[in-house]
Amino acid sequence: MHMTTIILAAGKGTRMRSEIPKILHKIAGKPLLEHVYDMSRHLENNQIKIVYGHGADLVRDQLTHLQADWIEQKQQLGTGHAVQQVAGQIGDKDIVLILYGDVPLLKLATVRTLLTHVSEKSLALLTVNLENPKGYGRIVRDHDGHIEKIVEEKDATNDQKLIKEVNTGIMAVRGDKLKTWLEQLKPNNAQGEYYLTDIIEMAVNEGIKITATQPECEDEVMGVNNREQLSHLERVYQKEQALSLMESGVTLRDPSRFDLRGKLELFGEDIEIDINVIFEGVNRIGKNIKIGANNRIINSIIGDNVQILDNCVIEDGVIGAGSVIGPFARLRPLVTLANDVKIGNFVELKKSMIAEHSKVNHLSYIGDSTVGSHVNIGAGTITCNYDGANKYQTIIEDGAFIGSDTQLVAPVTVGKNATIGAGSTVTKDCPAEQLTLSRVKQFSVSGWQRPVKKEK
Ligand code: UD1
Ligand code: CA
Repeated sequence: MHMTTIILAAGKGTRMRSEIPKILHKIAGKPLLEHVYDMSRHLENNQIKIVYGHGADLVRDQLTHLQADWIEQKQQLGTGHAVQQVAGQIGDKDIVLILYGDVPLLKLATVRTLLTHVSEKSLALLTVNLENPKGYGRIVRDHDGHIEKIVEEKDATNDQKLIKEVNTGIMAVRGDKLKTWLEQLKPNNAQGEYYLTDIIEMAVNEGIKITATQPECEDEVMGVNNREQLSHLERVYQKEQALSLMESGVTLRDPSRFDLRGKLELFGEDIEIDINVIFEGVNRIGKNIKIGANNRIINSIIGDNVQILDNCVIEDGVIGAGSVIGPFARLRPLVTLANDVKIGNFVELKKSMIAEHSKVNHLSYIGDSTVGSHVNIGAGTITCNYDGANKYQTIIEDGAFIGSDTQLVAPVTVGKNATIGAGSTVTKDCPAEQLTLSRVKQFSVSGWQRPVKKEK
């Protein structure tokens, strides 16, 4: 069976009140349309076609990585008109699946069930019963319960408005049938639009059976029309991810205050995550890890037994097993920590490697550096890696002890087991095993008097 999936995504989304086209708004950091696309990528033998229109340039620009055929609908004259734009590219024997780009949480399992009901003689329709069906197309059934047609809210009689079974817009139909019906659509309705839903009545008139299936949960077929709905679906999605992580051995102190915007790959169990933690991109983490409150961790690898204390930001980092970071540490991109490293409060690291058992415990900036093992970097130490035009490297070899408030003016190397006296400004390489100091000699003035206020 060959499939064509058409994702309708041309609409404006007026109620979002946004300059950004609706389908580019994000859930869990990923555009709405991409959620639909990713789900439909799992269908075998499937060609994806995206009908886009509103904000065309932005949409194409930001979603170039989607492997789909893009069809522009220049004027948005209705869902039927949108599908008509693709008609020329549909094979007669294709199974055509219609999805909406602004319905992001539809599940693959629901689609697979829907697809079992489509054939030459049957059209498969996804419907849902809503307590408040306002605004949706209603499913009109005859006395025997067979579907007769779909009536849009604006065209519905008062009796029809009482119907609680509504059209989700999602359906599957044979290509040849769809194409003939599309040709017959007329905009004879309250909105003057070409309604895709009119094909239901045409199908019934031809003796085609309409089979309705339902999603497991209503949120799967909820569209995003405004920011309230966007936030609702964000929480639904996050809760699902949180549950799945908990099943895999992650403790979440509060699943409603946890956000995963991307992938979290687990390589072990017993991960404890306090509140307000955000993971972005692809993160991989080991076992027996503790992550404190208010952390943002982006595209990083975290080894076993690591502790990340409160309020850290870690981006593109590799954290070796047993290391302890924070509270209040910032690891800018490309930091690699070996095992058992300690990074303390108000420390900023950038593009640096730090070997085993080394410590940067307080108030330091280490950038463009290679730090050996068993190094101790005192409070307030700064690598001066930038002269305003170029960046330079600092190398600190194994066992070095850098006194507090040292400035290491790069390029510079501190040798093995070297000691730097506190308050030094280091501009030349420091020999191994020696003490290096650059500090004004201390002196005291005896008999010196503090100034006193003049009398007026
Ligand atoms: C549509 C259905 C309605 C259903 C509801 C479910 C029709 C006529 N009505 O109504 O029965 O209950 O969805 O949400 O089909 N789009 C285009 N081009 C267009 C018009 C729409 O690409 O010219 C896209 C939109 O971007 C959106 C989807 O089609 O993703 C649905 O459009 P929307 O305007 O939301 O349809 P409704 O009027 O809500
Ligand atoms: Ca809608």
